[in-house]
Amino acid sequence: MGVVSGSPASVSASGGGGGGGAADKQAAFAKGLEGVIGGQTGVCSIEQDKLIYRGYEIHDLAEHATFEEVAFLLLEGHKPSPAELARFKAEVVAERALHPAATAFIESAGGWLASGRAVPMDVLRTAVSILGHTDVDCQDNSPSANLRKAKRLLAKIPTIIGHMQCVIDGRAIIGRELGGAPDLDHAANLLYLMTGKRPSKDEAKVMDVSLILYAEHEFNASTFTTRVIAGTLSDMHSAVAGGIGALKGPLHGGANEMAMEMLKEIVKDIGEDGIGSAKVDAWMEQAFVSKRKLMGFGHRVYRNGDHRAGILMGLGKKMAGTLTGTFGGLPALKWFALGEQVQGIMLAKKKIFPNVDFPCGMTYFTMRIPVPQYTPIFVAARITGWAAHISEQHADNRLIRPLSIYTGPALKKWNG
Ligand SMILES: CC(C)(COP(=O)(O)OP(=O)(O)OC[C@H]1O[C@@H](n2cnc3c(N)ncnc32)[C@H](O)[C@@H]1OP(=O)(O)O)[C@@H](O)C(=O)NCCC(=O)NCCS
Repeated sequence: MGVVSGSPASVSASGGGGGGGAADKQAAFAKGLEGVIGGQTGVCSIEQDKLIYRGYEIHDLAEHATFEEVAFLLLEGHKPSPAELARFKAEVVAERALHPAATAFIESAGGWLASGRAVPMDVLRTAVSILGHTDVDCQDNSPSANLRKAKRLLAKIPTIIGHMQCVIDGRAIIGRELGGAPDLDHAANLLYLMTGKRPSKDEAKVMDVSLILYAEHEFNASTFTTRVIAGTLSDMHSAVAGGIGALKGPLHGGANEMAMEMLKEIVKDIGEDGIGSAKVDAWMEQAFVSKRKLMGFGHRVYRNGDHRAGILMGLGKKMAGTLTGTFGGLPALKWFALGEQVQGIMLAKKKIFPNVDFPCGMTYFTMRIPVPQYTPIFVAARITGWAAHISEQHADNRLIRPLSIYTGPALKKWNG
């Protein structure tokens, strides 16, 4: 039992060994683990001037690689040869269809989705859990089993998202037998599964690049969650279900949905004519006064901006320039004009840069993707990074178990 000397914060750790004294712990404490090094990884490096996946810089990957190539890089550890890529793509396509138990669950979730009791991230989390029961390798944490499971999850997550969208829209499920159209690449098939329409080349390309940008990001909250779970020698499906739970939150992956909701709220408050005017400054000033967190801005690690944000903003805006019709009542480029204005004000007034979730909101919106699917699509990409980290943790494991500083009541007698 710990030693008590008056104030709660001076109580030392229970359990002794390695706990350290209260003063040592106070000195080592960083709220939110800010600045704390939580482990080593060969998967990804975030630097202020670059983001690197296994030795390749993100601008290089976004411009020259496909999502399948990046998925191979992350999961198998090196750039694929043409033969390796063809083999990998065929393996993933062959795994796209869902087990009927998972499809039946998604079909049964329509009422919860319609009532708002469940959002797509919740249904995705449960569906991944069910996939664990149907996977012959579920309890095997060996490197080869982990790789097989990673490819299955990579293949099946877009199918879950697509089936869910069909249920939400009250349409027949698309691709029940094959998990989509086998001739379509991963990004294009994801869009096809959601809509039943083959996307344009531009739409498929923008989705593909967004998946590359979302694929991996070192020890972010959801990846760290997956590593903590894997560190107990639990299995990949359990770790991924936990990762989905962590990613859902608006301070993490959920920010791409919230960023778009915020832009819609601004338009509702100031009207279309207010875009480009001082009304946006006034709206933002009000948000600053009320200390509101503006979604899609800020980052724990990046101090001078998120490398991925500019890439997606440029790509999304370029595509928006080719689109006709209206999106939520506005031409596509108007959303980007508003986004750029909001970005400019954030930078000028708060010196806070957008993160990748900010342009993602506008980009997916002008691709007519329903907002509640933005974070599930993030999962469709991040499954590659999570699986790489889970395998890395299993391959060189030590239980992840930090300490805490006790702030509860001082020691007292139960019968005292
Ligand atoms: C990402 C995030 C959680 C990082 O948080 P953090 O490292 O703990 O930083 P803090 O929340 O402590 O922010 C530091 C300061 O910047 C401000 N700030 C940071 N992000 C902000 C935002 N998006 N809007 C308004 N102010 C913000 C904070 O209010 C705080 O100001 P203060 O020192 O005056 O209190 C935070 O920036 C955030 O909540 N962003 C919005 C959600 C989001 O886009 N998440 C996706 C991340 S990829």
